[in-house]
Amino acid sequence: MSEAVEHSEKHRGAFSSRKVFILAAIGSAVGLGNIWRFPYVAYENGGGAFILPYLIALLTAGLPFLLLDYGLGHRYRGSAPLSFRRAARASEGLGWWQVGICFVIAVYYAAVIAWAARYAFFSFDKAWGDDPEGFLFGSYLQAGDPGISLDFVSGVTVPLVLVWVTVLALMALGVQKGIGVASTIFIPILFAAFIALVVVALTLDGASVGLDALFTPDWSALGETSVWIAAYGQIFFSLSVGFGIMITYASYVGRRSDMTGSGLVVGFANSGFELLAGIGVFAALGFMATASGVGVDEVATDGLGLAFIAFPAIINEAPAGALIGVLFFGSLVVAGVTSLVSVIEVVISAVRDKFEMSRVGASMAVGVPAAVISITLLGTTTGVYVLDIIDHFINRFGILVVAVASMLALVWVFRKTSLLREHLNRDGSVQVGRWWELLIGVFAPAALTFILVNEFIDNIQEPYEGYPTWMLATLGWGVAVAVLVLGFVAARLPWRESTFLGDPEIQARQDERSS
Ligand code: ALA
Repeated sequence: MSEAVEHSEKHRGAFSSRKVFILAAIGSAVGLGNIWRFPYVAYENGGGAFILPYLIALLTAGLPFLLLDYGLGHRYRGSAPLSFRRAARASEGLGWWQVGICFVIAVYYAAVIAWAARYAFFSFDKAWGDDPEGFLFGSYLQAGDPGISLDFVSGVTVPLVLVWVTVLALMALGVQKGIGVASTIFIPILFAAFIALVVVALTLDGASVGLDALFTPDWSALGETSVWIAAYGQIFFSLSVGFGIMITYASYVGRRSDMTGSGLVVGFANSGFELLAGIGVFAALGFMATASGVGVDEVATDGLGLAFIAFPAIINEAPAGALIGVLFFGSLVVAGVTSLVSVIEVVISAVRDKFEMSRVGASMAVGVPAAVISITLLGTTTGVYVLDIIDHFINRFGILVVAVASMLALVWVFRKTSLLREHLNRDGSVQVGRWWELLIGVFAPAALTFILVNEFIDNIQEPYEGYPTWMLATLGWGVAVAVLVLGFVAARLPWRESTFLGDPEIQARQDERSS
């Protein structure tokens, strides 16, 4: 291998085996989105009938885009910006755009993990008392009016600092010793804890009522656009595609690896976990509904409400309440941390590639500002509103937009997909056909553009959740546009002389021939 390529490979770090890569990729995919988001989204959008659009979204957009990310990262062997740059000079900005999105997501994702960590401890003495909702917004978050305040809430800031210290320590340890080892230890523990939770939930009185509510199909839902929008949105967030995460992780896998087989394992493990979460959560909700003599629809609430209001209420009533609490909130923490490290790694890896910084130096240069912003914005009495707005906008007008842009750019502008397909097929146990290019070049971008136009119109017509316009303009639209602009500005910064900007695969083949 030429000196330039060798230098860059050694400097960047790598997973020790394909197995570790798969565990890390599952760790990234399985996160807060699977445990609290999926059950509610499925329930709201046709219950059992949602499984069909969900699977179609997985097969037509999620997995194909995952393979694109894998192909890009594995062939070009760089962080998102370096991989795009090596693929086509003018596309580097797409990678930096993803880096910006990941920085923003990391800032608020850490806060939800901090709340979950605190709630795991609250579970022991049911600190929320008889009114989990009043407790969450009152005693715990001390939420005032929407806005930005600097009144810190110690119950949030203390666990938030601990989350950041843990994550930064893992980042500083590096790809294998930090992310790889953490995933190898924690992913099996997460699956075991979650299966235990599902088993306990299924033994509760009324569990079957919850499962009926989740799985009784409402076939008419298939005719509604919003159901298809929900399915595609869920798959992208849940599989961690469009973030640059899978590009980064794939760049740490050995040159001769079966990436298509790995993609299928990761995709189906993620969806399997999601279905398991649906079963566990709805069994518990069925118990709650039966115990309170109301319908499941009255206890199944949205995002935050499901984890931090409905679950505490279930823990209050259930026979093994504390156990359920520790398993549920503990799973959220573990799933969250293994996803957060992947999100922040996108930024660290990009900074290291561009500025040739050391692992520890880049981890601190990225992690300390991220932690300070996270604690300042999310650790206060207004943190919950900041989180809600940023999350809503960056997922739609960040991740989904960059996903469409990168698919169109790679297929139609830079015409890289035949090359990537050949690359994936060379060592892949599953062969990718021409249909793949059709899916990522036509079908998935068309479906996502349709979703985005609908979402855009909805958000313009009705300000999200009635928040003040200045908050939506800055934290919502402003942040989504800022990461795009800053991304293309960052792409103009020069690379170091020593950075290899060609195609590492071609270089490696030339080296093999000449040696
Ligand atoms: N894929 C991660 C999740 O589901 C981001 O939370």
